[in-house]
Amino acid sequence: MERVGSKAEARKAVADARAEHKTVALVPTMGALHDGHLALVRAACARAEYVVVSVFVNPTQFAPGEDYDTYPRDIDHDMELLAAEGVDLVFTPSAAHMYAEDASVTVEPGPLGNRWEGEVRSGHFAGVATVVTKLLSIVRPDIAFFGEKDYQQLQVVRRVVADLDLQVTVASHPIVRDRDGLALSSRNVYLSAEERAAAHAVPAALDAAAGALAWGERDARVLERAMASVLAEEPALAVDYVAIVHPASLEPLETVDRPARALVAARVGATRLIDNCELVPPAVAEGEVRA
Ligand code: PAF
Repeated sequence: MERVGSKAEARKAVADARAEHKTVALVPTMGALHDGHLALVRAACARAEYVVVSVFVNPTQFAPGEDYDTYPRDIDHDMELLAAEGVDLVFTPSAAHMYAEDASVTVEPGPLGNRWEGEVRSGHFAGVATVVTKLLSIVRPDIAFFGEKDYQQLQVVRRVVADLDLQVTVASHPIVRDRDGLALSSRNVYLSAEERAAAHAVPAALDAAAGALAWGERDARVLERAMASVLAEEPALAVDYVAIVHPASLEPLETVDRPARALVAARVGATRLIDNCELVPPAVAEGEVRA
């Protein structure tokens, strides 16, 4: 496994792989890798002959006052994990190398980037869209992998790729959860034992929505209230939003009569938790109604 820090070295390594007619996959990450990232890496290794993982804590997607400086970083451990998975290239640029001092062009993701997380984290998705576009332009993979944990990010990336005619397939991977149900996230290391216990209410709220849907409830407001009441039982949680949305546009739905997505965001202490799940109404699941 090779590690490179410059765009030129990354381009050269990928060009060498292309010269051997290898298909190329990219897994963009911010490091502090966990099993969720490794599931993406494994999916990439199964789909492509040359796998690139970028490890870059992207400053432009952190709003002022967020945790850019304290975001967990452990490149030595990340390298060990990636070597064990059989990754070919790890791209670890510095922020100064990624962004020219006078860089002024950004990728604005449009309305999809302004709702939900975008409302709470101003400028976040422009930062994500810009860095992902740059990484895709440097590596030029056939396929790029993103986790469903950051569901809105996944939809933003899909829009960027579609609207800018980027020649890459975007692949996603389901959320990987700990045994206690909490979605894996590099930021979970911030949680104290008490906060972690409180955080269980987040996946429990999603289960409540899925359970009510399975019992026949299709009114999105009722499902949202079911989620909110589970979260309300946990006083340590401050809820940012619960929403039942269209799976691609993320616009709120009135009725879940086709596959939808349930979104939750809440804060516990200084840590922000986001989670989501697919909602498939039973008739659709049984094939009676076409989405
Ligand atoms: O999901 C992440 O880790 C980041 O948002 C990404 C996609 C690597 C862009 O910095």
